[in-house]
Amino acid sequence: MNRAAWVFFAALACAGMAMAAEQQPREQGIESSDYVWNEMYADKLQALQAKGDPLRGEIAFEICQGCHRKSALGRADGSYPRLAGQHATVLIKQMTDVRAGRRDNPRMFPFASQHAISPQDIADIAAYLQGLPVPDDNGKGPGTDLAQGGKLYNRDCSSCHGDKGEGNGAKFYPRVSGQHFKYLEREAQEIRNGNRRNADPRMMRVIKNYSDADLQAVTDYMSRLPVSTK
Ligand code: HEC
Ligand code: HEC
Repeated sequence: MNRAAWVFFAALACAGMAMAAEQQPREQGIESSDYVWNEMYADKLQALQAKGDPLRGEIAFEICQGCHRKSALGRADGSYPRLAGQHATVLIKQMTDVRAGRRDNPRMFPFASQHAISPQDIADIAAYLQGLPVPDDNGKGPGTDLAQGGKLYNRDCSSCHGDKGEGNGAKFYPRVSGQHFKYLEREAQEIRNGNRRNADPRMMRVIKNYSDADLQAVTDYMSRLPVSTK
């Protein structure tokens, strides 16, 4: 398929229309006793080692922006995450984990599969996205329990996600500042419930006893961390 056909398919998929799509494989994840976090598949390693070209990445991102929106800003309703400003390593890990069937995302899979994009395309897209600005108009939570949210964040989450929510590219820890609250809250629930199967087991250990109220408080706090480009 050529690029124009992919863009057309993506528009249909984002409008929720069914299409005959390639099925996502299912690889063992965190539910398995011999799960290895961030296992280095060949395509993950190739994408991490490739030199990403942001100009080529901007063009390759065209098939993604029907869902992730222009400038990769996502949607405040949490349906599509913001990708702008995310660390390139994090983006590469998530995309190749989806390709390998470790993070379930059957709707996105056809666009992230090896038939759609190469490891070089992934590196290019990641370089483009990492350099995009992150405006502070992301969706925020209700703001009702920020003291509790801040306490939990600084106790259990900031060691990886950073005092300012900046994450850590070298360690594959996502930046969370500037991300939409509704996406963060949903992902935190999926992680706690064991459904985000490529998750970091050390994060699982801290998050597993969180109530829904605590998850809402902590992700609300995260959504309000000040954005900075690095
Ligand atoms: C049909 C809609 C759709 C298309 C097209 C799509 N995505 Fe996604 N993408 C999603 C959804 C939905 C999620 C959130 C999945 C979840 O809730 O776990 C997501 C998540 C992601 C994530 C993980 C973000 C994070 O914070 O962990 C990355 C990276 C990503 N997409 C990159 C891309 C790229 C690059 C493309 C184009 C090659 C693309 N997506 C095309 C729907 C789409
Ligand atoms: C040991 C490091 C570590 C700790 C501690 C940690 N996380 Fe994470 N977090 C990660 C990693 C790594 C990811 C990306 C998932 C993956 O691929 O493993 C992630 C992803 C997330 C995401 C999804 C972000 C996205 O862009 O998709 C949310 C939400 C989240 N963490 C919330 C939390 C909360 C809330 C806490 C504290 C209760 C926490 N994390 C503690 C490492 C950590």
